[in-house]
Amino acid sequence: MDKLQNKSTVKFFSGKNIPLEMHKVRIVQKLNLVPVERRLEAINEGGFNSFLLSTRDIFLDMLTDSGTNAMSDEQLSKMFVADDAYAGSQSFTKFEKSVLNIFGKKYVLPVHQGRAAENIISKTYVKPGSHVPMNYHFTTTLAHIQLNGGTVAELFTPEAMKIKSSHPFKGNMDIVRLEEYILTRGKENVPFIRLEASTNLIGGQPFSMANMKDVKKVADKYGIMIVLDASLIGENAYFIKKRESGFENVSLLDILNQMCDLSDIVYFSGRKVSSSRGGAICTNRTDLYNQMRDLVPLYEGFLTYGGISIREIEAMAVGLDETADEQVVGQSPAFINHMVMELDKLGLPVVMPGGALGCHVDAGQFLSHIPQSEYPAGALVAAFYIISGIRGMERGTLSSIRDEKGNDILADLELMRLAFPRRVFTLSQVEYAIDRLNWLYQNRNLVGGLIFVEEPPVLRFFTGRLKPVSNWPQKLMEKFRADFGDSL
Ligand code: F0G
Repeated sequence: MDKLQNKSTVKFFSGKNIPLEMHKVRIVQKLNLVPVERRLEAINEGGFNSFLLSTRDIFLDMLTDSGTNAMSDEQLSKMFVADDAYAGSQSFTKFEKSVLNIFGKKYVLPVHQGRAAENIISKTYVKPGSHVPMNYHFTTTLAHIQLNGGTVAELFTPEAMKIKSSHPFKGNMDIVRLEEYILTRGKENVPFIRLEASTNLIGGQPFSMANMKDVKKVADKYGIMIVLDASLIGENAYFIKKRESGFENVSLLDILNQMCDLSDIVYFSGRKVSSSRGGAICTNRTDLYNQMRDLVPLYEGFLTYGGISIREIEAMAVGLDETADEQVVGQSPAFINHMVMELDKLGLPVVMPGGALGCHVDAGQFLSHIPQSEYPAGALVAAFYIISGIRGMERGTLSSIRDEKGNDILADLELMRLAFPRRVFTLSQVEYAIDRLNWLYQNRNLVGGLIFVEEPPVLRFFTGRLKPVSNWPQKLMEKFRADFGDSL
């Protein structure tokens, strides 16, 4: 019976293949869809950077799934029974239980968000001359490793960079390259191997359990520890269940436990995995716990609250437990897959197969007339906002950095990410996004590039300001008006 109840797909009599929400919406928030003329003004005011838009000008906020997921009734209700205490809170004890249940780790260091975990891990283990191999970097991870003098190597497989692929595990690490890397850099210079679940920057693509076991073999051979970034672990586990043979009948909880058993340190952003705030570093090793522990009161807060409100600790505990529920975790991959399949049918270039986190549009192909030095993914995000009111995120060269000579390090992929905060959007909203994106594709030649006018030296994509290379945004707006009349 349990097995039947845990099935996550419902078939339609009509044969339609559309995802069905397995929750009901009981609290809603009003949205604004301001006219295209205002949207053009707003993106100008925001320096053509979607991070600098205000939500009063945004219809669907697909910037990120970070801190924007819908909470469950269980999560919200538990926030009211929080045991507020600076030290020794019972809410933290509940959180420890959830970590033990989901990740199988007995030691937990709470932090205010994922990058704070990266700060503590990097400060403890990375030093000048350290080399850190990983399946792919995340922006904040890379920044923290570099701040501590380390370098990063991305040892993905060739499949990872193919936009249209049917490979189920594009987030896999290349085992041959991993071993070569350790041998050439010297195992004593490799403090850890980092694996990122549902690899964010290459389109939310998972790795397989088989690959993780192979990484573990190499790690053990050279005595190197594995650090697992579990910010998107629920979806990675879900994809293992759905796509890896032998796991069809294994519970999500078992898969999660197995993944964490292979890791020495598991850290996560609670803003993602547990639909709350916060984050944590988890381990079973007393030595590792002791090495990192004292940095928590120094940078975050006391060991039982880690710089976030105790209410959020309660919400994080429940959110983690819900990560083992297939109907909770499977919802956004199902919606993402729907959007990806529809866009592909229309001939638009999207990362395939659909992964976690969001639908990733290949701006490199979409706007192939814009050189990477003029940030095609940034231009696509700005153009899409103007014509739809939907806010996406640039994940390409604009999110990259410059080399010592001041030249842009061109990104491997130029992506516009349209994130699906968990259980936030309805299917008609997804249909609207598909419709507007299709229109933009038909009018893609109107879109031009962007150049920086203000460029911060670190994580420039957050606060940098840009301008269009010509008056293309105005022309795009005029075409929108001509085609859509007085429609919003
Ligand atoms: N690791 C991964 C894989 C992430 O996706 C993020 C955040 C972090 C670490 C850092 O966590 O934001 O809580 O400090 N990703 C967000 C995003 C920002 O929009 O993809 P954080």
